[in-house]
Amino acid sequence: MKKDELLITVHRALQYRNVVLRNIQLQEENIRYQKELEQKVRERTRELARALAHLREVHMDTVKILASAIEEKDPYMRGHSNRVRIISSEMARKLGYKEMEIERIEYGALLHDIGKIAIDQRILDKPGPLTDEEFKIIQDHPVIGERIISKVSFFADIAPMVRWHHERWDGLGYPDGIKGENIPMPVRILNIVDSFDAMSSDRPYRKAMPIERVLEIIREERGKQFAPEMVDLFLEEEIYKTPVVD
Ligand SMILES: [Fe+2]
Repeated sequence: MKKDELLITVHRALQYRNVVLRNIQLQEENIRYQKELEQKVRERTRELARALAHLREVHMDTVKILASAIEEKDPYMRGHSNRVRIISSEMARKLGYKEMEIERIEYGALLHDIGKIAIDQRILDKPGPLTDEEFKIIQDHPVIGERIISKVSFFADIAPMVRWHHERWDGLGYPDGIKGENIPMPVRILNIVDSFDAMSSDRPYRKAMPIERVLEIIREERGKQFAPEMVDLFLEEEIYKTPVVD
């Protein structure tokens, strides 16, 4: 080989080496950049998840305030919606509902009596038994509640809980008299929990019943007022012992 040819070959080999080295360098930079990017995405996702959780908490708190504002109208109702929320949530958890579904049930439980806002104060406060006409007026509260709720699309899915919370498994409830399997599961949960809390609290016309009596009534109403599987769950899992904070 001539000297010139040798120089060219060496020069080319060096050039090739430089290209290879540059390539390795670029690859390393690329990996580093990708890792940084992944880290940034992870951080941002965490931030967003935190912000969303906070937003959901604030929203739930706002609805809690709304529910307790309604209860101020009826002192006997104080804390009722929140207790019903906590116990319904426990029932739903035991039934295997997902977190998002449990949250919807909690909203339904908090707002089920929102229609009472439109009911005459004198009827709500009346200590004695109600006349037929007064009872009819009270019975309007689920329909009024549904009307209020339906104005907000965010609450559209909980409207059945509001409208049907006084329906019964045997079809003798109100306002529509739907029965059995036609009653959606979240409504069945609310039916039993709402009644449980009402019986365990003072009312204008009676004192709170002792827990033994309440549980006896719940047992008696299996398949009548309440869905059989809900009564079984409530008693077997001792849902009535769920700790509640007002
Ligand atoms: Fe009600």
